Amino acid sequence: MARALLEMRDIVKSYQVGDEEQIILDHIDFTVDENQFVSVLGPSGSGKSTLMNIIGCLDMATGGEYCLAGQLIEDMDQTELARIRNKEIGFVFQSFQLLNRLSVLENVELPLIYAHTPTHERRQKALEIIDRVGLSHRIDYFPNQLSGGQQQRVAIARAVITQPSILLADEPTGALDQATGRAVLDLFKELHREGRTIIMITHDASIASAAQRIVKLLDGRLYEGEAANA
Ligand SMILES: Nc1ncnc2c1ncn2[C@@H]1O[C@H](COP(=O)(O)OP(=O)(O)OP(=O)(O)O)[C@@H](O)[C@H]1O
Ligand SMILES: [Mg+2]
Repeated sequence: MARALLEMRDIVKSYQVGDEEQIILDHIDFTVDENQFVSVLGPSGSGKSTLMNIIGCLDMATGGEYCLAGQLIEDMDQTELARIRNKEIGFVFQSFQLLNRLSVLENVELPLIYAHTPTHERRQKALEIIDRVGLSHRIDYFPNQLSGGQQQRVAIARAVITQPSILLADEPTGALDQATGRAVLDLFKELHREGRTIIMITHDASIASAAQRIVKLLDGRLYEGEAANA
């Protein structure tokens, strides 16, 4: 039996705008098992980033229950949230979000510095994972000396170096041309084959199809299988 890494029940996210309550996520149930590669597909404004922020413990739902790696998120304070986020989630963003004053090696090492990993071990792990994403010849380069696809591969290396339970990517190919985007998707597929759990958010159906499972977000509701094709 596959183990559920992420379980959302009846999740609601709403904002008070003036006198009105805007419901962005409308009673969502979402479960992701270990070693799944799932895409969340939806048009602009459908609530994808809102959902991603809640999954990544960057934001809290207004209602419902969210359980990540066996831990209930609702009752956690900011310190506990930061701890579970650092341990369980690796983030990849559309805009890479690398630190420009740090080299490739230093960018990838950074999460392990925060985790107080000893220098030698940190360096060894960083070199391994940089090799894994095919950038061993670029370790001393700075982000602005890399192509977009290379920058995104550095960002992916940085996201997985702590061995998070979930790799969470929001439009990871959004800033890349088609061929480079494909290469990033191929890397996700390989990481998935190696046992990682990946949640990828996109507005593009052809990109979503890289995953083994696609859920659709429309007007704050989540659809899957037959319902998603209706
Ligand atoms: N702080 C806020 N107050 C009110 N409404 C908000 C707030 N933040 C987001 N929203 C609304 O939530 C909706 C969903 O936003 P979200 O960023 O999740 O969309 P998205 O699916 O990621 O879109 P895109 O593909 O353009 O990135 C939008 O209509 C937005 O206006
Ligand atoms: Mg978004």
